[in-house]
Amino acid sequence: MIPLKSEKDLQMLRQSGKILAAVMQQVQKSIRPGITTLDIDRLSQELILRNNAIAAFKGYKGYPATACVSVNEEIVHGIPSGRVILEGDIVSIDLGVNYQGYFSDMAITLPVGKVDQNKKKLIETARDSLDLGIKQARAGNNLTDISHSIQSFVEAEGFSVVRQFVGHGIGLALHEEPEIPNFGKPGYGPVLENGMVLAIEPMINIGGWECLILDNGWTAVTKDGTPSAHFEHTVAITDKGPVILTQ
Ligand code: MF3
Ligand code: CO
Repeated sequence: MIPLKSEKDLQMLRQSGKILAAVMQQVQKSIRPGITTLDIDRLSQELILRNNAIAAFKGYKGYPATACVSVNEEIVHGIPSGRVILEGDIVSIDLGVNYQGYFSDMAITLPVGKVDQNKKKLIETARDSLDLGIKQARAGNNLTDISHSIQSFVEAEGFSVVRQFVGHGIGLALHEEPEIPNFGKPGYGPVLENGMVLAIEPMINIGGWECLILDNGWTAVTKDGTPSAHFEHTVAITDKGPVILTQ
């Protein structure tokens, strides 16, 4: 069963999402060549606490940090470290917030300084595929209408969609039902209803979709070493259509 949220839940989730969006905006401003992925983590933690919220990822299944910071060929779950961000890198920042028991989840990918044209197009395509997916998050649609809209667009642009990681329901926990693949045929899965809240999060690669997990047990990288991009929003399905909570 996919849990439906009450009006009160949605209000609280909106607050959670607003906090997360504000934190992300501040963190985004700090990204420049020379900072480390751990700097990004520390700033994220400080800003989340300053907003009277809790980092949702820290301790989740043993995840050791506030942020996931995934650079270049890293797809997702990059663990912050002393790694220095360089001009030409693309950096995905994934953050989750728990505000009074209400969870929101968001990711963006940023170019650092001048990046090559292919990486730029990868980032744009990932962002646009998320927007297309969100447009399908409407009462009466099937879940995989979201999946299909993302996959068909990304593949038409010449990129591939990661299979091993998917979006998810969210709200009173970081991960709720359903899983939301970023690939598949349209018209399958549960029928979407007003009151559902979904974290939609396409991860796309320049090369193949296959991935490997590093020895740290978390970080996913592309098998062929090509760059990867990731965008995510927490979205409520309402009688006025999809509402992005993380903005
Ligand atoms: N947005 C990612 C997800 O929903 C990040 C989770 S990091 C984890 O899977 F540490 F919480 F797992
Ligand atoms: Co997520």
